[in-house]
Amino acid sequence: MIGEAAKLLARSRFAIAFTGAGISAESGVPTFRGFNGLWKMHRPEELATPEAFRKDPHLVWSFYKWRMDLIRKARPNRAHYALAELERMGILKAVITQNVDDLHREAGSRNVVELHGNIFRVRCTSCSYRENLKESGRLDEFLKERDLPKCPRCGSLLRPDVVWFGEPLPRKSLEEAFRLAERADLVLVIGTSGVVYPAAYVPQIVKETGGKVIEINPEESGITPIADVFIRGKAGEVMGELLELVRGLANE
Ligand code: APR
Ligand code: ZN
Repeated sequence: MIGEAAKLLARSRFAIAFTGAGISAESGVPTFRGFNGLWKMHRPEELATPEAFRKDPHLVWSFYKWRMDLIRKARPNRAHYALAELERMGILKAVITQNVDDLHREAGSRNVVELHGNIFRVRCTSCSYRENLKESGRLDEFLKERDLPKCPRCGSLLRPDVVWFGEPLPRKSLEEAFRLAERADLVLVIGTSGVVYPAAYVPQIVKETGGKVIEINPEESGITPIADVFIRGKAGEVMGELLELVRGLANE
């Protein structure tokens, strides 16, 4: 299986990756639906929706500050680094991710499309103010702040710049993702249950336009039925091995 995947990857003209929470599981970031998934401890309706935020912004901010603190302590794992290396080798053209943990960028990937936003970015609920707290260096003080965060420009409430259930995805990112999927002749699907749309269309578009689908997951997912190659395993282990095989083929 993995040998076949390495051959397809080495021969591809325009390969992309489509990733979900599972790629960050080995970095210690809990997934949503799998074992010990986040949504087991909290019901998504209570936390990741505009209604929940309107009803109880303190509860929603305490959930996101807990996740921001947990994620900023997380480090990319071998799978993130392998994707960055495949991009440097000119094989991988982009990473399209559902994750908001910024770990692909931290691992060195440059062409990253974030479909569900970024947990370190906040935006104003009224004006167009946006801030990436990691880049502005205000993350520490922001996490210590007890009061609800307010916009420095207009004083309105700030919210996490992530996509909540029932909200539209950022149009630009979605269009870019679909354009990449149409061009791709191969998609590496890593660590996603493939049940959340429209993100889950990405591998289907690659398939429909004649591309190959390679999936890496310890369990089957909503994408497995269209996978040309299904590698049952953890992202870090499999991607480490896959990178070595591709390196070997590239040097032939
Ligand atoms: N390596 C690879 N895959 C893994 C690993 C691992 N070490 N551990 C778990 N997985 C797989 C699980 O088998 C599961 O298929 O990762 C997947 C995680 O699925 P979800 O928790 O549903 O995460 P995801 O698919 O990214 O969810 C999509 O739903 O909650 C919303 O916006 C949120 O972006 C998220 C979206
Ligand atoms: Zn504002």
